[in-house]
Amino acid sequence: MVAEQYLPPWFSVAPMMEWTDNHYRTMARHISKHAWLYTEMLAAETIVYQEKNLDRFLAFSPDQHPIVLQIGGNNLENLAKATRLASTYGYDEINLNCGCPSPKVAGHGCFGVRLMLDPKFVAEAMTVIAANTDVPVSVKCRIGVDDHDSYNELCDFIYKVSSQSPTRHFIIHSRKALLNGISPADNRKIPPLKYEYYYALLRDFPDLRFTINGGINSIDEVRAAQNEGAHGVMVGRAAYNNSWSMLGNVDTAIYGAPPSGVTRRQVLDKYQVYADSVIGIYGNGKPSLRDLVKPLYGLFWGEPGNGVWRRKADSAFHHCKTFKSLMEETITAIPDSVLDSPVVDPYSTACVDKFANSKNLLPLPYTLKEEQEEQLLYA
Ligand SMILES: Cc1cc2nc3c(=O)[nH]c(=O)nc-3n(C[C@H](O)[C@H](O)[C@H](O)COP(=O)(O)O)c2cc1C
Repeated sequence: MVAEQYLPPWFSVAPMMEWTDNHYRTMARHISKHAWLYTEMLAAETIVYQEKNLDRFLAFSPDQHPIVLQIGGNNLENLAKATRLASTYGYDEINLNCGCPSPKVAGHGCFGVRLMLDPKFVAEAMTVIAANTDVPVSVKCRIGVDDHDSYNELCDFIYKVSSQSPTRHFIIHSRKALLNGISPADNRKIPPLKYEYYYALLRDFPDLRFTINGGINSIDEVRAAQNEGAHGVMVGRAAYNNSWSMLGNVDTAIYGAPPSGVTRRQVLDKYQVYADSVIGIYGNGKPSLRDLVKPLYGLFWGEPGNGVWRRKADSAFHHCKTFKSLMEETITAIPDSVLDSPVVDPYSTACVDKFANSKNLLPLPYTLKEEQEEQLLYA
C-alpha cells in the first residue's frame, strides 16, 4: 500500500492495557463516532493458544469501527497465525507493539520496545503480519531505548522497517524507553518528550505517514499538533482520564461534524444496556460490576459531585448486582446540569506553542550513507 493511498486516522485513542478494553471502547463510541479506537495489546500467543475462545479476546460490536487491533510478540509463526485468526473479526488495521517497556513484556526476550533494537526482525514480523491480513498495518514505537536514543538510530529503525516490509505508518510515542527497571508508569513520565524527533521524521521520510503520541492533553493540543503538520494524533491517558471533554470534542473540532448534542445521561443510558447484558458472561463473576464501571471514571472529571459519586460507587459495589441498580443508587451525586448538558468545545485562541517550539529544535536531516545503506539492506 503506498502512503498516498493510506491516510492515518486524524485522531486515535491509544492502546492501553486494562483500559481500552471492550467496555471502555463501547462507552467511548457513544461519545465520539469518528475517533479511531485501538485495543489494548494482545499477545500473539494469547490469540494462538485461545483459538477456541477467541470471541472473548477479539469480538467487538460493529459500531466500534474504526478499530485497530494491537498485537505483541516475538515469534513470527505466532504473529502470522494470530493475524490470520484475528482477520476474521474485521479490524480496520493491525498494529505491532514496539513501545511497551513493561518488564513483563520487554523483559521476555525481544518483545515490546526491545524490538526497536532489532529492526530486521520487526521488518520480518510486519511482512508476515501484512501477508495474513487485507487491512493496513502499522508500528507503534518509542523514539529510542536506553542509550540508543540518537535521531539517526531512530531513522535507521524507520528506514529499515519501511524499506523491508509493507509498513507505511508509524505511531511515534515521542519519548525513549528506559529498560533499567523503572515502572511502566514512570516510563511514561520520566524520559522527556522530544517532539522535534517526530517532526524531523516528517521532513526526512516524506513517503511515510506518522502519528504523534505522548503528552497531548487537550483538544487544543491535538489541533496544534495538526496545525504544525502532524498526519495523525494519538491520545492515551487524557482520552481515558478526561474522556468526556477529550472525546466529546473530537467529531466537531477534528472531523468537522455538526454537534451531536449527546449528553452524559444519554451515554450512560446506552452504556447501561451494554453493561447489564455482559455482566458475568465469562463466569467467575467476570466481567464484574467494578470492571464495567471503571471506564466511567473519566466521564465526570473536574465536575461537581465527581468525588462523592466515586465514593458512593465504591460502596455500592458491595451490594449492587446490576449496573442499573448501581447507577440508580449513585448518580444523584452528579447534578442534572452536568448530566444533561452537551459537551462544550473548550477551543481557545491561546497559542499552544509546544509543537511550534519543537520545530525550532529539529535535529540535522537523516542522511543514509551509501555503505550504511548497504549494511542496512543486507544485514
Ligand atoms: C494504563 C496504560 C496502559 C498502556 N498499555 C499500552 C499497550 O498495551 N500498548 C501500547 O503500545 N502502549 C500502551 N500504553 C502507552 C500508550 O499507548 C501511550 O503511548 C502513552 O500513554 C503516551 O500517550 P499519552 O501521553 O497520551 O498517555 C499504555 C499506557 C497506559 C497509561
